[in-house]
Amino acid sequence: MRLATVTLAAGLGTRMKSGIPKILHKIFDKPIIHYVIESLAGLSPEKSIVVIGQGAESVADSLKGYPVLNVIQKEQKGTSDALKAAMDELEGFDGVLLVVNGDTPLLTTALLQDFLAIHQRNSEDLSILSFTAKGIHSYGRIIRSGNNYVKGIIEDRDADAEQKKINEVNSGVYAFEPHILPLLNEIGINERKGEYYLTDIVDIAVRKGYKVCAHNIAEEEQLAGINNRDDLYKAFYYLRNKIVQKWLDNGVSLFDKDTVFIHPDVNIGSDTIIYPNVYLEGKTNIGSNCTIFPNVRIVDSIIENNVIIKDSTIIESSEIKENAAVGPFAHIRPDSIIGPSSKIGNFVEIKKSVLGKGVKASHLSYLGDSEIGSNVNVGAGTITCNYDGKLKHKTVIEDDVFIGSDTQFVAPVKIGKGSYIGAGSTITKEVPPSSLAVSRTPQKNLKGWAVKKQPKK
Ligand code: UD1
Ligand code: MG
Repeated sequence: MRLATVTLAAGLGTRMKSGIPKILHKIFDKPIIHYVIESLAGLSPEKSIVVIGQGAESVADSLKGYPVLNVIQKEQKGTSDALKAAMDELEGFDGVLLVVNGDTPLLTTALLQDFLAIHQRNSEDLSILSFTAKGIHSYGRIIRSGNNYVKGIIEDRDADAEQKKINEVNSGVYAFEPHILPLLNEIGINERKGEYYLTDIVDIAVRKGYKVCAHNIAEEEQLAGINNRDDLYKAFYYLRNKIVQKWLDNGVSLFDKDTVFIHPDVNIGSDTIIYPNVYLEGKTNIGSNCTIFPNVRIVDSIIENNVIIKDSTIIESSEIKENAAVGPFAHIRPDSIIGPSSKIGNFVEIKKSVLGKGVKASHLSYLGDSEIGSNVNVGAGTITCNYDGKLKHKTVIEDDVFIGSDTQFVAPVKIGKGSYIGAGSTITKEVPPSSLAVSRTPQKNLKGWAVKKQPKK
């Protein structure tokens, strides 16, 4: 099937009461519009058009990297006018046109495939994806005739009391055969709203004898349109619960599924255990047999197998290699690699540093812009002084170095393999391999000094 898609995303979304366009509001860390475009991309259309208007610059910016063509709807005169804005780009296209509202983020590729298959199998001219709405809502109602044929769509604000009782509603997903599209020019303005409704094309097509059908094939949550903050919250929770359930079904243990937040692009290996209040964000990959203790946030990171992340730890854009342990209260900042079997403990901050195998930094340290070999012991309170006020400098510590507590490395500086650094040292010069470096002043004991210092009574 030849397929093109149009996503309608030019509206501001007044009901969000927001300064940013509605479709840029996020579910987890991803804008609503990205969900829609990714589901459409799963269909591999020949052409994917997005109609933008309100906040066009920021919307176009957020769509960079997606293979879509943006067209501008100059004034937001309704959904029919929005689709018309895409017509020039569809000149000569004679396949099926799938049109979706840009505010329907929980659509899936599989659902759209099913919908298009029905459209094609039944040789329909215009197909509408409908669903059953529960509770109070403002969706357009599908009006059917006595023999169950679709007659039209009536918008909530135009519906009378009887029509409002209809619970089969329009999802804003339509499949058009190309010969239907000229009917867009016959849609008149809706006086009450002052807009041109795409939904009015249904009545026009039916009157002309075209085959118009609505297919109620999905649950409400999958097709929910986001119009206000409450809709956004509900969509987020629906997706969140679905993701959590998916991981429970795939061999991951959770202590409290209500307080774990796993982003859609996260992967988790089996037999990993996740404690309450954990946030796994972005494109994070967690291996098998890991334990993630409470209050941990991991963003865009790779955690290999058998890793333990202890309480209240943050890991950002970094890699934790197998059998390592990090935390509690550790902060692993971007571009860090913690080597296999390494142990990063209480109140340790690591930034843009690569640590080898079996490194131990158990307490109260800052390691920034550093390269640390294998089997290095980093004593409590070790600090890399990496910033001179203008530039960042590197600290290189080779394998098997033992760093005594309360050491400062004034970078750039290098410590040779197998060396020892005496506790309390400030290291400003390179230390050759297999050496002992001590920089503190020798201790003096002044006997009886304290007695002499006491004031006379
Ligand atoms: C629309 C449908 C309604 C359906 C519901 C499903 C119409 C008239 N109504 O109502 O039948 O039940 O979606 O969620 O179509 N847009 C533009 N340009 C405009 C106006 C809107 O691009 O001038 C875009 C919006 O950015 C949005 C989409 O079209 O992504 C739908 O607009 P919205 O205002 O949300 O329509 P609803 O009231 O939800
Ligand atoms: Mg809407």
